[in-house]
Amino acid sequence: MIYNIGSINIDYVYRVPHLVTPGETLASHSLLQVLGGKGANQSVAAVKAGAVVSHVGRVNNNDVWALEQLANLGVNIDLVEASDGPSGHAIIQVDDSGENSIVLFGGANQQLTQPQLQKALSSATTNDWVLVQNECNGLPDVFELAAAKNLSVAFNPAPMSKEVLSLPLNRTHCLIMNEVEAADIVGVGSDSIDDKVSALIQRFPDSIIALTLGAAGVKLIQDSNVVSISSPKVKAVDTTGAGDTFVGYFVAGLVEGQDPQTAAIMACHAAALSVTIEGATPSIPSRVDVASFKKQTEEQ
Ligand code: RIB
Repeated sequence: MIYNIGSINIDYVYRVPHLVTPGETLASHSLLQVLGGKGANQSVAAVKAGAVVSHVGRVNNNDVWALEQLANLGVNIDLVEASDGPSGHAIIQVDDSGENSIVLFGGANQQLTQPQLQKALSSATTNDWVLVQNECNGLPDVFELAAAKNLSVAFNPAPMSKEVLSLPLNRTHCLIMNEVEAADIVGVGSDSIDDKVSALIQRFPDSIIALTLGAAGVKLIQDSNVVSISSPKVKAVDTTGAGDTFVGYFVAGLVEGQDPQTAAIMACHAAALSVTIEGATPSIPSRVDVASFKKQTEEQ
């Protein structure tokens, strides 16, 4: 079972001819309101990949529709608590090439409490995993509680902040990060991917690391071995949530007992498929679709 301690956002997705520039007022083509948040997206992706997921989070009662969607998609929402304040939301611009930029409002995601986290993990056992991103407060508590119960931790330090640097990252079983996050964590200023990979190997000798490179795929690092996994080519409609799709599928694969390479290949295919559809949660593909897409790409 995966306990995912993560954000639940209302995503306002604006299609724009280009990402707005400083001082510019820009008319959008359309507006879509959907369930999002790195946490919620990753819960949905992990469930679609076949994992059992209990989401730990907080949302305003007015946004119960978002919770209903999570539940309808198969995510256990018993550990999501109500907030008096507004839910988290994201203002997302998506341009004609599918690229995005995001402004976040943390809201209820920043109101997790130590008692809530303690209660949420009280029935967790050593076979369970904790998945966590960086859109909720309380991460030091999460790491401490997980260590006390000997749970495997998968951490996706997104969006990156300086607080991440003081977390006990060496205790993570698995780290999934992009190049920017990796550079901040290992303190490598150079553009070279190899420099970051070397620094990651030195800093986290005991963790499985997926360094995500967008359309260029993933560098998978374990026991000082590095494997490059390419991403299938697709026409991008909206890249929002592609990273979350990767994380959810990858962690679900590891929890299921797949070797990291198999899990990462499946996750790359899932992420690639997700960029062909608009929205974050709505674009996360089913395991059956990912498997048939993988078969198709292998036959080409
Ligand atoms: O990773 C994509 C997500 O980031 C969006 O769904 C948005 O809510 C932000 O959290």
